[in-house]
Amino acid sequence: MNRRYVLVVDDEPNMRRVLEIMLGAAGYAVFSAANGREALALLRSAPVDLLITDLRMPEMDGIELLRQMRADGIDAPVIMITAHGTVETAVAAMKFGASDYILRPFDIDALELVIARVLHEAQLARQNTFLREELNRGWDAFVGAGTAMQAVYELIRQMAATKASVMISGETGTGKELAARAIHNASSRAGKLFVPINCAAIPADILEAELFGYEKGAFTGAVKERIGKFELANEGTIFLDELTEMPMPLQTKLLRILQDSTLERLGGNRRVELDLRVIAATNRNPREAVRDGYLREDLYYRLNVFPIALPPLRERRADIADLVKHFIAKHRARADISNAVSAEVLARLGAYAWPGNVRELENMVERALVLCGAGPLRAEHFPIDVEAVIVASSLAAPLGPLLPAVEALETGMIERALLESGGNKPKAAALLQISERTLWYKLKKYLN
Ligand SMILES: Nc1ncnc2c1ncn2[C@@H]1O[C@H](COP(=O)(O)OP(=O)(O)OP(=O)(O)O)[C@@H](O)[C@H]1O
Ligand SMILES: [Mg+2]
Repeated sequence: MNRRYVLVVDDEPNMRRVLEIMLGAAGYAVFSAANGREALALLRSAPVDLLITDLRMPEMDGIELLRQMRADGIDAPVIMITAHGTVETAVAAMKFGASDYILRPFDIDALELVIARVLHEAQLARQNTFLREELNRGWDAFVGAGTAMQAVYELIRQMAATKASVMISGETGTGKELAARAIHNASSRAGKLFVPINCAAIPADILEAELFGYEKGAFTGAVKERIGKFELANEGTIFLDELTEMPMPLQTKLLRILQDSTLERLGGNRRVELDLRVIAATNRNPREAVRDGYLREDLYYRLNVFPIALPPLRERRADIADLVKHFIAKHRARADISNAVSAEVLARLGAYAWPGNVRELENMVERALVLCGAGPLRAEHFPIDVEAVIVASSLAAPLGPLLPAVEALETGMIERALLESGGNKPKAAALLQISERTLWYKLKKYLN
């Protein structure tokens, strides 16, 4: 159990003394202030889990203290102590955001009960905010019915039923985080926290403290103990995004956690039991990451029990139409915008290489919805540079003989045009902006 810090504010020295002794004996770390000014100075410099203040004090009363600390952005819960006969004022204090009040004289058991309840509620409130933020980040359903994604959905279903670690790989924007959340939400841990942490976004020295938590005094600046992401995710799921960017020594510690299911906070020697599901993600190829020294081999084997590789969007172009519809519905501000788009738009989107994958497509749809103003969505609202299409494809192709590469590009685009037009050749030719005759000639050349 974490030691809680309680600040007692009372202008009577005897009362402060009594509370210090009683609360100290009950296991709280107590410090005290003789007036509102001192209290505010302490609140600004020290971590306080709970403030207990006398309501009636000279200079600044309890309500004014409460108002000023809230104005300072300090959200520690507050309990007001008040004499008989001023219950009305105590109720007013609660309207200002005090958590509870207690009438004088009181006995220590009653006070302890109130303290325990207020601290518990504050912790629940914190967890709820976290949960709500998680939900608001929008767990969307996966969209795309192509065979490549069907295989992914099946894996997610299978994995959700187990506790096994999962390694998700895929280029940027392919939906790795979406997949991780889907596994968590479909698992028996869905009611517990899904805790994401991006190993690439946090400096190495801070990352360790973030993951493992620390005891008070573990290092300069550790004025108060803090639980880490692993402990926060206990009984839930931790999502280690960009795992290959985690420094090697930390990867070693992670492996130990996976093996022992226990953890030690930094600067401590207590072992905390953990029941964790670990999902890791990387946009490197995991095997190459091992070869190139970005990922410990034993960690790779440990996590790769269930690998999921998310295919890049350019390899599942059949899903583009559904994704576009989905993102129009998700982002349209006007109800009159239909989520049906023209064949011309789809042809344009289908020809692009999508280096940023689904995220890039989503961004483009969002932008198109702004660009179209008050009118309908048209092809020009999806500004894909035709040059960029060709450049992107040629960059993707290894340097070598030109003609086979051009042929591959041509056949690919012709196939898509035919798919798009339902096999209707005049329509396909129009999509490709070539004559029917040219299309006929190319079909004969490539597709027989
Ligand atoms: N199949 C899909 N259906 C619907 N939305 C998707 C799909 N795949 C990805 N998205 C959406 O695309 C965006 C990017 O997905 P996500 O953040 O999961 O990608 P990522 O692989 O984690 O990318 P990065 O490597 O850049 O972190 C999100 O808004 C997500 O909701
Ligand atoms: Mg991501």
